[in-house]
Amino acid sequence: MRPRWRGLGNGLRVEAQEVLWKNQNIHVFVCGSFRVSGDPKGICHRKDSSGLVQYLETEVSDRGLDGVTVSSAGCLKLCDQGPVIVVYPEGHWYGKMDEDRIDQMLDALERDKPAEELLLS
Ligand code: FES
Repeated sequence: MRPRWRGLGNGLRVEAQEVLWKNQNIHVFVCGSFRVSGDPKGICHRKDSSGLVQYLETEVSDRGLDGVTVSSAGCLKLCDQGPVIVVYPEGHWYGKMDEDRIDQMLDALERDKPAEELLLS
């Protein structure tokens, strides 16, 4: 399959490649509170972290962030900060997440930066 940027001038081709790289391989994990037993326990699922997964997937799609994958994770061990989200490969950890804070996080991600004010220290 031909890359979409073929036929573009050199400058545009490089820019298109950079955009593709920038948005690739970003993995957003949302705590689903799952434990080894398989049962969800902890704060995050009680604060509707599964709803946040759906919200994130919709927002990622609406924003065209093709290289961003969203997954539900087991307990991320910071339960008192829940709902917790971690973004890899950067390793940015976010706490007390809701839809407004997810919007801020994604706005920052689109600028290739963390949402500093939401990061867990
Ligand atoms: S339940 Fe989410 S961090 Fe433990």
